[in-house]
Amino acid sequence: MNVAPGTEVIGARVTGVSLAERPEGPVLEALETALEAHGVLIFPDQGDVTPAQQVAFSTAFGPLELVELDHALLPGHPEIFVVGNTGEKLVTFSPSDPDGELEWHTDHIHREVPARASLLLAREVPPVGGDTLFACMYTAYETLPAEKRALCDRLEVVNDVAGLGAYISRQGHEKIHRGDPEDLIENPVIWPLVRAHPRTGRRALYFGNQVSVGIVGWEAEEALRFIADLTEHACQTAHRYRHGWNAGDAVLWDNRRVLHAGTPYDLQGTRRRLHRTTVRETAEIRLVG
Ligand code: SIN
Repeated sequence: MNVAPGTEVIGARVTGVSLAERPEGPVLEALETALEAHGVLIFPDQGDVTPAQQVAFSTAFGPLELVELDHALLPGHPEIFVVGNTGEKLVTFSPSDPDGELEWHTDHIHREVPARASLLLAREVPPVGGDTLFACMYTAYETLPAEKRALCDRLEVVNDVAGLGAYISRQGHEKIHRGDPEDLIENPVIWPLVRAHPRTGRRALYFGNQVSVGIVGWEAEEALRFIADLTEHACQTAHRYRHGWNAGDAVLWDNRRVLHAGTPYDLQGTRRRLHRTTVRETAEIRLVG
């Protein structure tokens, strides 16, 4: 196995590993170490991997979480969430406008059990656009002024899927919740703004610019301004890796220390289909300050 970091602060290309085989022992440990160290692992040329093999590979990192969108689950493989524009309904977390606001997030932060890692395998990709951006939340935290770091260490953030729903509506897309309105899972979930990585103790910011809708004890407006300012710092270009997809690319990322955001593509004239598996968080998330 070879792990080659790029020039950005996050991201490494991994060769000599096939997702067709479930990693075990030293290979799994090396992948876990690389995932924490680089945040985003890119595995090229995995187009022959079957859905069952993707599921098996992903479960090596922990139990999988199912997404509550029946229409977006791969038939026969409910562990696979199909992101893109080829299904019954559009599933996208991207701005509709090329210069539109991004939706920076870490998967399932709005749920009682968030995601520790996610794996996307590209099946069909548009010729232009539809890149995915990743931002390093270790760097984001470590480059804050000391006083602001200490403040962030003490804050707790209110995360609510309603924030994501409002974003999707602003993009002009149909809300992607499943079922009837009464099934909506719009309940706030509170997490510390800063979390220590369970493998290393290194601290990372943990929030999303749309899904994080408040800060415990703060006025709503002040909290939203703080979150917007923090996003500008945290997700600045210098902290990012941009992945331009080729069909067959697989990308595994560490939701404990990376935010990601989709970018726009031609929804009418091109096809984009990515298969996502989502690994459930099993570590405790506690205030560090
Ligand atoms: C996701 O947020 O899981 C998908 C990102 C993308 O569509 O690029």
